[in-house]
Amino acid sequence: MKFSIISIFPDIIKSFAKYGLVSKAIEENIIQLDTYDLRIFTRDKHKKVDDRPFAGGAGMVMMPEPLFNAIEHVTQKNKGKVILFSAYGNLLNQNKIKELAQEQHLICICGRYEGVDQRVIDTLVDEEISIGEYVLMGGEVAAEVLIESVSRMLAGVVGNPRSLETDSFFHPDQYAFPQYTQPREIRGLKVPEILLSGNHKEIDSWRKKNQKKREKS
Ligand SMILES: C[S@@+](CC[C@H](N)C(=O)[O-])C[C@H]1O[C@@H](n2cnc3c(N)ncnc32)[C@H](O)[C@@H]1O
Repeated sequence: MKFSIISIFPDIIKSFAKYGLVSKAIEENIIQLDTYDLRIFTRDKHKKVDDRPFAGGAGMVMMPEPLFNAIEHVTQKNKGKVILFSAYGNLLNQNKIKELAQEQHLICICGRYEGVDQRVIDTLVDEEISIGEYVLMGGEVAAEVLIESVSRMLAGVVGNPRSLETDSFFHPDQYAFPQYTQPREIRGLKVPEILLSGNHKEIDSWRKKNQKKREKS
C-alpha cells in the first residue's frame, strides 16, 4: 500500500516515519511512503502557497494552483483516493480505517492556515477526513494518525495479527481488557489470581467482563 503525503512541512512526516512499526513496514516494503513538498509545485520565486481570502476574513487560504499541480503530479503517476484533512471532515474511526486499508494508494493533503481553496475540494478531493472535533495547526499530525492506524491493519505490520482482534474497536463495542506483566506483586498490588490460573476459558470470560468501557463525561 502506498501513502503519498502533500505538505508544506514534509520533514514532519519523514521524521515520524523513522520510528517504530511504520519504519519497519517501510523497510519491509509493506507500505511505501512518499512525501511531496507543496512549495515545489509553485511557480513564483517566493514559492507562495497561500493568499488572503476573497471577501475578507481572518487568516490566509491555501492557493489552488500549487495544490492542483501537486495532486495531478501524484495521480498522473499512480491513481488513488485523494483525502484532504479538515477539522469538519468525516471522522477517522476504526470502521473508516478498515475501509481505507482496502485502498492501494492514499493521497493525503495536509492543510495549513485557514484551509484550502474550495475549488480544489470540489474537483480533486474524494473525501475530507477529520481525526477529531478540535482544530489542529495543520494536517501533518492527522496524516501521521492515518498512516499509523491504517498501516497496522495491513498483513505483516503488527507482529501477532491476533492482537489486532482484541484491540479496542476491532468489533463494535469491543474495548481492551486490563493487562498485567511481571512482577506478580508490586507495592502490595497483586495480579488478579484468575490470570495466573492457566484456565483459558475462565481467563477469556474474565477479560470479556472487565473490558475497559468508556466513562461517560
Ligand atoms: C488551522 S486548521 C484550519 C481550520 C479551519 N479554518 C476550520 O475552522 O475548520 C489548518 C489545517 O489543519 C488541519 N486540521 C485541523 N484540525 C484537524 C482535524 N481535527 N482533523 C484533521 N485535520 C485537521 C486541516 O488540514 C486544516 O486545513
